Amino acid sequence: MTTTLSLLTPSGRLTLGNLLGALRPMAERQDDAYYGLSDLHAMTTRHDPALLRERTAEMATLLLAAGLERATLFRQSAVPAHTALAYLLECTAHTGELNRMIQFKEKGRGQDSTRASLFTYPVLMAADILLYRPSVVPVGEDQRQHVELTRDLAIRFNRTYGEVFTVPEIVTPAAGARVMDLADPTRKMSKSADAAGSILLLDPPEVVRRKVARAVTDSDTGPTSVRADREAKPGVTNLLEILLACGGSPDGLSSYGALKRSVTDAVVAVLEPLQKRYADLAADPARVDAVFAAGAVRCRAVTAPVLAAAEAAMGLA
Ligand code: TYM
Repeated sequence: MTTTLSLLTPSGRLTLGNLLGALRPMAERQDDAYYGLSDLHAMTTRHDPALLRERTAEMATLLLAAGLERATLFRQSAVPAHTALAYLLECTAHTGELNRMIQFKEKGRGQDSTRASLFTYPVLMAADILLYRPSVVPVGEDQRQHVELTRDLAIRFNRTYGEVFTVPEIVTPAAGARVMDLADPTRKMSKSADAAGSILLLDPPEVVRRKVARAVTDSDTGPTSVRADREAKPGVTNLLEILLACGGSPDGLSSYGALKRSVTDAVVAVLEPLQKRYADLAADPARVDAVFAAGAVRCRAVTAPVLAAAEAAMGLA
């Protein structure tokens, strides 16, 4: 059986990038799948406790609305083995390799002080993964470096202390693995960014329309201008990729206006059913809580022997 694992961090509100890069590929793999909310990772930069609770509840509901109900769903903090294994892995990881993590450099940039947990973030992520011995980890392109570090740590651990972990493969979607910001197509669409360039999963159709209408394209408006070219036309290329990933067709689009109308229609068609399910689920928060509580019970059972094996291999009695 192929075990699958992935988590999302409730550090903001889910975007179209999260849906296309992660949630949809996750929804396609739900047999023996463990999908979580990495609430502990949401505390690696300055956070507001009340907002974290609110975002976590919203995201839990969105995971169900996105159709993940057949997988085991859980909150990371409800499964203490994650932090326990993270410490063991910190005893195998090197500061040099953590220093090379692009996300650490990006998120730490311009801050006068960074939390120690931001530095060890990828080790907790490695623990999230290795505890479940998954063979595949579906994520967006921006998580590739972290999954590669996870593989390195697993290989190192197995060589040094004995075979405890499987070495997972990363899976990224063909279209939508790196959705870019509409207002600044040189950076990725992010849930923590200013929302003008991010399509949120709960944005109503008119907001989607406005954001797409204002998306950056370029000044090249000739008859053959609606074409993909990452270097010269990052904005247009991003819109074309979103269109494709949302099931639209780029054929016959003669202007940027037509492209934007098609993108809006395709995105709204993907979001509408999800928003409808969200509204139904949000009316019954106890049901969502019960799904995640049951998931955590299963996760605690599945992860206990793996943590015990790692502890024993490292010489803890
Ligand atoms: P996070 O919460 O930033 O993103 C959740 C998932 O969405 C993908 N993603 C994107 N895909 C395409 N285009 C985008 N613009 C875009 N933005 C985000 C991410 O690649 C991710 O798959 N550290 C992780 C959470 C995590 C995790 C794990 C993932 C914690 N432990 C273990 C996998 C396995 C994160 O913060 O993702």
